[in-house]
Amino acid sequence: MQRVMDVMVSGHRQFMDVLEAARTRRGGFFRNVTLVTSGDGPDVRTVVLREISPGSLVVFTDRRSPKFSQLQDDDRAAIHAYDQKTKLQVRGYGTCQLVTGDKIPQKFLREAMQRREDYAGFFSPGEKLDAGQAWDMDLDQASQNLALILFKPHLWDVLELHVEGHRRFGWNLEDGEWVGSWRAP
Ligand SMILES: Cc1cc2nc3c(=O)[nH]c(=O)nc-3n(C[C@H](O)[C@H](O)[C@H](O)COP(=O)(O)O)c2cc1C
Repeated sequence: MQRVMDVMVSGHRQFMDVLEAARTRRGGFFRNVTLVTSGDGPDVRTVVLREISPGSLVVFTDRRSPKFSQLQDDDRAAIHAYDQKTKLQVRGYGTCQLVTGDKIPQKFLREAMQRREDYAGFFSPGEKLDAGQAWDMDLDQASQNLALILFKPHLWDVLELHVEGHRRFGWNLEDGEWVGSWRAP
């Protein structure tokens, strides 16, 4: 029987289609992913993937958050997700472009502003609070605080765990073309 891994290695387009299906399907493993950046050391957090387009994966964030300034200083990032059902680990390596203010496409601005409160905290994400301060917000500032992170991958690494033998495959961007190759697991 064909497994998801077989589809993922059959072509880069098919690979991305699997990721998109796992992002949009209810409970799919590629909706909430782990985003890794570099600050004083490695840093890591869960984010929601809002869109997968041919060249980039879109994440919404607050421009006052530590990850934003980390990415301003060092645009390299990695993402990670694991699917318990198919025992697939997906890792992506790339760089991030940050988009703010008027440069944010209207469709993303509209989507983000449906949860305006997520970007309207009076205090920056991670800032120390006194009791009760957490709820202070300025809803009018939400759109100014919103930022898009466009993750642009140049390498994907997929590992499938299986009783008949583990398999690992890489998709590597070489001179604008995605080239696939098997790897030792
Ligand atoms: C399920 C889940 C989804 C999340 N999605 C996002 C997201 O899409 N964007 C975001 O900035 N933070 C998101 N967060 C919060 C981050 O994990 C993190 O706590 C916050 O962004 C601050 O990160 P930083 O200090 O590394 O900048 C999410 C957290 C959880 C648990």
